[in-house]
Amino acid sequence: MFIGCDTLIISALFLEAAPRMKRCLFSTLLLPCMMSFSLRSWAWTAPDCTVGDASLLSNLSFYVPFCSLVPGLHLFASCSNVKDLPQTLASVPRDIEALCLQGTVPILPDDAFGLFSSLQLLRLQLGTTKVAAGAFQGLHQLQHLSFEHHAPCCLNLFLPQDTLESLRFLNSISFQGYCLNYSQSIQLPISLSHLTLKHSCLTELQELQKLFPNLGSGFSPTHSPRPWSPFLEVLDLSSNLHLSQVGVGALKGLHLRSLRLDGTPLNTTGLLDSGLLHLDSLSLVHTGVNKLPGNVTGYFELGALDLGRNQIQNIKDEDLPSLHSLEVISLYANSLQLLPPGFFSALPQLQRLNLSMNKLGPTLVLPQGWSSNLKVLDLSHNELCTLPHGAFSSLPQLQELWLSGNNISSLSSENLEGLRQLKSLDLSWNQIKVLKPGWLSPLPALTSLNILGTYLETISGRHLQGPRKLSHLQLGSVAMLDIYPPWPPELLSLEVWAQPSVFFHVANGEPFLFLENLTLQSSNVVLVPFNATIHFPSLRHLTLRGCSPFIFSSPDSRFFPQLPLLEHLHFWSGHEDAENLHLSITPKLRVLELGDMDFFYNLGSVTLEEVLKEVPQLQVLALSHLNLRNLSISTFRGLGLLRLLLLNSEWDLGLDSSLQEMIPQMPEYVYFSNVTFICQCESSWVGPWATGAPNTFVYGLGDSICMANASDYSKTPLLSFLSSHCAHDPNFQGFLISFILVLLLMISALLGCPKWPWLRQLRKLFYAWWWKLCGRGPRSAFRYDVFISYCEQDQAWVLDKLVPALEKPPPAGEGLRLCLPERDFGIGQDRMDATAASMESSRTTLCVLSCQALRSPWCNLELRLATYHLVARPGAARLTLLFLEPIDRRQLHSYHRLTRWLQKEDYFDVPQAGVQWDDFCEQLRKRLKRAEQEREDCVL
Ligand SMILES: *[C@@H]1O[C@H](CO)[C@@H](O)[C@H](O)[C@H]1NC(C)=O
Ligand SMILES: *[C@@H]1O[C@H](CO)[C@@H](O)[C@H](O)[C@H]1NC(C)=O
Ligand SMILES: *[C@@H]1O[C@H](CO)[C@@H](O)[C@H](O)[C@H]1NC(C)=O
Ligand SMILES: *[C@@H]1O[C@H](CO)[C@@H](O)[C@H](O)[C@H]1NC(C)=O
Ligand SMILES: *[C@@H]1O[C@H](CO)[C@@H](O)[C@H](O)[C@H]1NC(C)=O
Ligand SMILES: *[C@@H]1O[C@H](CO)[C@@H](O)[C@H](O)[C@H]1NC(C)=O
Repeated sequence: MFIGCDTLIISALFLEAAPRMKRCLFSTLLLPCMMSFSLRSWAWTAPDCTVGDASLLSNLSFYVPFCSLVPGLHLFASCSNVKDLPQTLASVPRDIEALCLQGTVPILPDDAFGLFSSLQLLRLQLGTTKVAAGAFQGLHQLQHLSFEHHAPCCLNLFLPQDTLESLRFLNSISFQGYCLNYSQSIQLPISLSHLTLKHSCLTELQELQKLFPNLGSGFSPTHSPRPWSPFLEVLDLSSNLHLSQVGVGALKGLHLRSLRLDGTPLNTTGLLDSGLLHLDSLSLVHTGVNKLPGNVTGYFELGALDLGRNQIQNIKDEDLPSLHSLEVISLYANSLQLLPPGFFSALPQLQRLNLSMNKLGPTLVLPQGWSSNLKVLDLSHNELCTLPHGAFSSLPQLQELWLSGNNISSLSSENLEGLRQLKSLDLSWNQIKVLKPGWLSPLPALTSLNILGTYLETISGRHLQGPRKLSHLQLGSVAMLDIYPPWPPELLSLEVWAQPSVFFHVANGEPFLFLENLTLQSSNVVLVPFNATIHFPSLRHLTLRGCSPFIFSSPDSRFFPQLPLLEHLHFWSGHEDAENLHLSITPKLRVLELGDMDFFYNLGSVTLEEVLKEVPQLQVLALSHLNLRNLSISTFRGLGLLRLLLLNSEWDLGLDSSLQEMIPQMPEYVYFSNVTFICQCESSWVGPWATGAPNTFVYGLGDSICMANASDYSKTPLLSFLSSHCAHDPNFQGFLISFILVLLLMISALLGCPKWPWLRQLRKLFYAWWWKLCGRGPRSAFRYDVFISYCEQDQAWVLDKLVPALEKPPPAGEGLRLCLPERDFGIGQDRMDATAASMESSRTTLCVLSCQALRSPWCNLELRLATYHLVARPGAARLTLLFLEPIDRRQLHSYHRLTRWLQKEDYFDVPQAGVQWDDFCEQLRKRLKRAEQEREDCVL
């Protein structure tokens, strides 16, 4: 909506010579836009912060410092090098949902985040050691709070008792790399369900009671209004390297669903006396155990047990009975060689078994003779070479089977017998050289098959027959791959990897009618026969890695003749030139990522501009390593919906001064990462833009460097080059200020529109608003006839000659009421405000121009302001230029298309020799009259 409005505004600005009615209609369309515009807060770039919308950054977040979110959150800010918290936060937009801060802030003061009332996630990596009691005041929606400190362990944190109590929606709190030695009796909010105290210095579980008294039933929380039944979803105490003791009654009365003790030396037997009432899931990853913890499992009747990265080399039969309640067990990375024969029968509830990264090979032997309910089995990375016939016959309920990273070389139907419920099969990165015909026939329910990383040279659709609803297919080979039809008819997603080439053999018909996602990774994608055509009528996501842009070469591309629904295109070419990249076939494209292409040494004629012109719906554009060299406004012309622009890994990049015309409609988010600029003053607008541009968040210019020439390795920071070598750019400042003013002026233009009744009410509202804004009452008529703009050097002429002639009372003269800044502005009044206001209250503006004036930044600005007036309230006689000396009119051209708006009679040349005062005054009078008439036509 917002960008759309900008576009409207801009088009309105340059709407040339449209009849007045049409223009007023246009203004009416603008009205709602402007309202939203003026009500929106002005959010500017925050140094060292990325501000972003995660929904625009999906699959692009690795380019910028991201704030990892929980699902459902979008607006985030991630700031690094924070030293002065209030200063950093001042430039962060108020409506963010997630905030990640990294830096050095030892003390968190009261009300540190009060401005961010919609914050739901807060991650602090600030080395904080003291938190004021009211630090989190006002965070009524906060759900996730974490304190993190990365090595060396650990910082001491002082957290006052009731700091967290006001966080009524707090769901998870996490301390990592912190000791809470100095804190005591911290009141946890009643809503809390995840408590993490990782990499800390706990030695005994008992210490938790002192820290968080309301975890146990022994202590009823004094401030809690409701009766407290201590309950936690997850208690994570991983990586407490000295946590070895539990202590009797340490967790008395607590109901806990999941306890994580990864990387601790805790003796879990102690948990039996801890007073813990209920436990469902226990994680003991990397704790050095070498036998199954039967007693805890049996005592709590655990449902899930994670024993990854331990030393359980074999499972003894006598351990099994105590495991009968388990539904999930993870035994990955344990050097396990065999499952005991009674395993499945002893675990009748088992649904998920993770045996990844063990040593169950070379021949798989699974317990037989008991029909298990297992649904998910992970056997990846087990050095398996052979799957015996009927290896899985005891697992008729299996839905997911993971076998990637083994040494399986051949597969036939006998290997997979009995898996009638199997939905997902992962056989990627094996040594598969042969697929026997009908090998998938025992798997009628299969929907997802992964055979990436095979050694196959051909894959035929006939190999894939058997499953009736295969919809997700990944296939690839380390060799050249020929793929033959028929394709599974209901394919929704397809991924093909084959270096160096993949040959698609095409038959008649439309094999990819429903395909939504396609990923191709190959240097050469070839259609056979060459003149065949494939259609992808439903394709929405396309990812290409390593292919040549030829795949898009229209008009003769048969690979993608049309992609009518494509929304996302991620295209990384193999460092080829961008010739032949034509995206006109993707009219609905919203997200475009282009990488590893060369637009500079481009042999063909395709420019980025031409590519982008074909995708006007684009909202997200990420450009990485394209050797662009120069960006100008023409590159982005027509991308009115663009919300995010990202430039990565560019070298020697120039940002043309024409880009500043785009500022009002710049995308909301502009990110630079690893971009080296050219040191040139052409880009001097960039500094003020990046720090002051309205409604655009710019990230990454602060650390960008620039190079004077190819052999300049001095690593000059771009912004410091611009500020030290390029004169302060008044044009830009003027532009920004006048951009703001023009909005206000356009609103006032709107007020002068025709007499539609419903407009009346709105107009009233607007008048009230506008005058309230300006702090004045409604105006009756013009205060002045002429506002005179001139520069200091021409002041003498203006005061001595022009003013007396115009102000001379009738009958001898005109008796015009003039406004002269030097004379009529109040002392101490802001000149910019006063200028704008005086122009507004003058019937016409007269600019006295000389070469000197054109060089003066101030005159420049006044001229620009006057132009905006003219644009905002179109009509004759709003602006008159008086030339004191002959000036090439083209010099005016740079003043924002001023010349387009002026007519011949708007210029007066004052011959050097003398002034024809009578003629001049006569004409001026006519113009003023016309201005008056215009006004009467239009006023209510
Ligand atoms: C986006 O990223 C996810 C996770 O990294 C990946 O599974 C998915 O294939 C990617 N999608 C595209 C279109 O690249
Ligand atoms: C915090 O307390 C633990 C156990 O009481 C102790 O081992 C550790 O040294 C203390 N840390 C500091 C920094 O005082
Ligand atoms: C098994 O465990 C490994 C290591 O944690 C993990 O990467 C993998 O996803 C797990 N397998 C399944 C099926 O969850
Ligand atoms: C499995 O294959 C890998 C890679 O080819 C090889 O290094 C390894 O020795 C093989 N293992 C067995 C048990 O064959
Ligand atoms: C296609 O990819 C997108 C993005 O990775 C994903 O959200 C979507 O579920 C995928 N669709 C299918 C049918 O796999
Ligand atoms: C930074 O960009 C240059 C090209 O401009 C590229 O060669 C280099 O690999 C990039 N560095 C990183 C870390 O991406």
